[in-house]
Amino acid sequence: MPKVLNNIKQLADANSPIDMTRTMAPDVPSFREYIIEGLGQIAALPELSGIVQRHRFHGSTQDKAVAAQWLGRRLGSAPDPPRLLLTGGTQNILMILFSRLVPKGSVIAAEKLTYAAIGQLAMLAGVSVLPVDIDSDGLRADALEEICRSHRVAVAYTNPTNHNPTTSIMSTERRQSIADVARRYGVALIEDDVHGFITKHAPPPIATIAPELTWYMMTVSKCLGIGLRAAYLVAPNADKLAQLLACIPSVSTWFVPGLSAALITNLIETGAAEEIARSISVEVGLRQAIAQEILGPLKGMHTNNSSLHVWLDLPHAWTIEDFVNAAAKAGVTLRHPNVFAVPGTEVKSNIRLSLVAPARHSDLREGLFRIAGLLQSRL
Ligand SMILES: Cc1ncc(COP(=O)(O)O)c(C=O)c1O
Repeated sequence: MPKVLNNIKQLADANSPIDMTRTMAPDVPSFREYIIEGLGQIAALPELSGIVQRHRFHGSTQDKAVAAQWLGRRLGSAPDPPRLLLTGGTQNILMILFSRLVPKGSVIAAEKLTYAAIGQLAMLAGVSVLPVDIDSDGLRADALEEICRSHRVAVAYTNPTNHNPTTSIMSTERRQSIADVARRYGVALIEDDVHGFITKHAPPPIATIAPELTWYMMTVSKCLGIGLRAAYLVAPNADKLAQLLACIPSVSTWFVPGLSAALITNLIETGAAEEIARSISVEVGLRQAIAQEILGPLKGMHTNNSSLHVWLDLPHAWTIEDFVNAAAKAGVTLRHPNVFAVPGTEVKSNIRLSLVAPARHSDLREGLFRIAGLLQSRL
């Protein structure tokens, strides 16, 4: 870039607000080298044109065999490849599962605060989501049971490991209770293990407790990169997966992008994927330490050292709207937390702060200092 333009860009960057809205895998040392190396190896493959010019459908035989080993690290043992597939991201999977597993008159149950896309995808699929109460251990089994007793719940969606947005990590006991309720009421579970590979000491997924009723999803968005647009699905068994796919053989929006699948498989095979996920986890730990240093003394911060964000209790003197507006004036962009509320619920006094959206630690520190100043002004 010419010097003058570069200077203008730096000035613009210095004045642009610090974004603390979205969460993604942070950049880590050697990431670029791993990607360049992987892409280079793919470019040298004799089947390169086929990778780019043909559908890869739900992943090649090799993709599935490699994925089974990789997912086996979370699932205790490698799932049978006919139970799994690669597709274009978690949201793609959810769209199909919501459309296909929830018959007319039935509903989805989900943590009352959840991934912002859940309500929107359910709306597109024409199904309703009922909010289930949560506590510091995540989805409450007694609350799920109550809803199962009073409604026709076909599916329960849960994000038990590093819950978005509250950061809770569900205990093994709670996972067993959730599986127990699902079994007794014949409810399918959709387990979103989005943070599984980057969470230190993550308990085994619910899919290991109740594999016969769990649709297990693992995206690469947080442990490698969201731009790859790919996620794995492990179905309860090969027959159920075949039934799910039988009615959508031509829906190519559900096919995994070929280059992404080839790259992910290459990164897993060379060991780079594991190194990247490990480095991301280390980087997140560093960012969490910065958050502890700046916001920790103020109390009211819910988090753990593997979370990409923190969930803050706002002092009573702040309304959420005032806080988001005051943060914007102070040059920090935040999201209104109601995006995480299932229709029918609302967030009363919390804010989610992404620790990974700011590119540099210095930006993160600056953003957190500004937030700390606002919190302190009304303690
Ligand atoms: C709970 C949860 N699931 C999944 C994802 C990622 O979805 P995708 O694989 O479509 O990128 C996110 C990203 O923010 C998330 O918070």
